[in-house]
Amino acid sequence: MELQFRIKGMFRTSTDPGPAKDEVLELLENARTTILSKGAPEGKGANITSVVVKDNGIELEITSGRFVRVHDAMLRLRKPLAELLGKGHRIGIRGIDIAEYTVTIPSEKPLKPLKIPYVSSMEYTDGAIVLSLDVGESEIEKRIPDRIITLIEDKVAAQSYGGKGEHWNLLWESGKKEHVFNEDPTQEMMKQGWIKRGSSRGQWIHGPQSVAVFRAFERIVIEEIVKPLGYREMIFPKLVTWDVWQRSGHAKGVYPEIYYVCPPKTRDPEFWEEVADHYKVTLEVPLDMIAEKIDKPIGGLCYAQCPPFWPFLQGETMPDDGLPLYVFDRSGTSHRYESGGIHGMERVDEFHRIELVFLGTPEQVVAHSEAMQERYMHIFNDILDLEWRTAWVTPWFMAQEGLAGLATETRVGTIDYEAVMPYRGEEGEWLEFQNMSVNGDKYPKGFNVKCQSNQELWSGCSGIGLERWASAFYAQKGLEPDGWPDAFREIVGELPEGIRFL
Ligand code: SER
Ligand code: ZN
Repeated sequence: MELQFRIKGMFRTSTDPGPAKDEVLELLENARTTILSKGAPEGKGANITSVVVKDNGIELEITSGRFVRVHDAMLRLRKPLAELLGKGHRIGIRGIDIAEYTVTIPSEKPLKPLKIPYVSSMEYTDGAIVLSLDVGESEIEKRIPDRIITLIEDKVAAQSYGGKGEHWNLLWESGKKEHVFNEDPTQEMMKQGWIKRGSSRGQWIHGPQSVAVFRAFERIVIEEIVKPLGYREMIFPKLVTWDVWQRSGHAKGVYPEIYYVCPPKTRDPEFWEEVADHYKVTLEVPLDMIAEKIDKPIGGLCYAQCPPFWPFLQGETMPDDGLPLYVFDRSGTSHRYESGGIHGMERVDEFHRIELVFLGTPEQVVAHSEAMQERYMHIFNDILDLEWRTAWVTPWFMAQEGLAGLATETRVGTIDYEAVMPYRGEEGEWLEFQNMSVNGDKYPKGFNVKCQSNQELWSGCSGIGLERWASAFYAQKGLEPDGWPDAFREIVGELPEGIRFL
């Protein structure tokens, strides 16, 4: 079965279109093989299945498949009909009324009940989901039905994908290594006073020793990636507004994981005085009172790190000799509302990441991704000496939009870098400690960035999570520098003394 559409709509006229009836019928008859099939494969255009010329308009029933969808058919007919009625008969088209609009979407299973704008009913019969849409002229002009269908098709695909687990294809593995350590590194770090839990969920306070190792990781990234590959440092914002997430696609799915940011309704001290007074008297922060005094969220805390960079390029044309462009940010934290339960440092709500972003022609971007993979290979084999592997997975930007599967363009996708965590056992879950992606035209398109020679622009990015590098490294090498590879010890130098307590 294929996607099917049916619409019952009327072109409302200024006066009785009766006198033009024959010409209208002729126009509609011809439309089938002309305007209603334009752009569709042979025989796949829209079909007018009924025409009733009433005294206040022309009522049509149209059916179609995926190609010239019924609402497009209505819109395509509007102009020629208006011309015919206007020129010959001085009759105007006042608007389009849509009495019925149904879409039949094949699906092996029903979907759970959903609340979707403009969908008045959703039923499952004979291997298909049948939607009734409550739309009018302005909604079809805005292509609302197309987005509803994409949404439902994505949900159907996700549902049939769901059972098969996440997409994951092994690309490379280092092979088994001996590990000097097999404890949970977070426990060991806490025991040795390197870190303590912060007051917020999934948050840590890093002591001097932990930070010395983070900074050593950073120096590795600077020496082995930033300098040889020619990256320039920038500072990306850490509060991300909705317009950025609308362009990056995050607005399609990231809601359960955002730390929302609400500004005060006003910064007038008098407006806030009762809150402060309440606290001073009761020593309780009056949360309900505060909730009344703050505005709706303007966005959230940095989540994926690269999206808020893009407004820097938005609407610009890149000179050919300014490409490829390599920039990175390490200016602040990223935040995710993680799943509940107690996690160690490898799964945190607040984390530190170096984000590398690259932009160029598709060839430049793909070539750069290969160069970067070689640099990573050198770091993880020769400096950190990890047992690790890489896998080709659902592109991060699709996953963050709530999509499964792979991109249609085969060069677009994410490489996950994973390390074995010996304390979890041989069969235990490996830790994703960084990623590297070719993002295709997603960002240049979303933020409207062009290139001088009009070639296609692609981008890519790579996120190096310091907590993740540290978790993978300590899990295999422990906290004792004697057990660390020489190349790394040289970079770290002497660890600073920790903070002592009585
Ligand atoms: N922006 C990418 C991500 O969020 C890389 O850090 O996964
Ligand atoms: Zn990124």
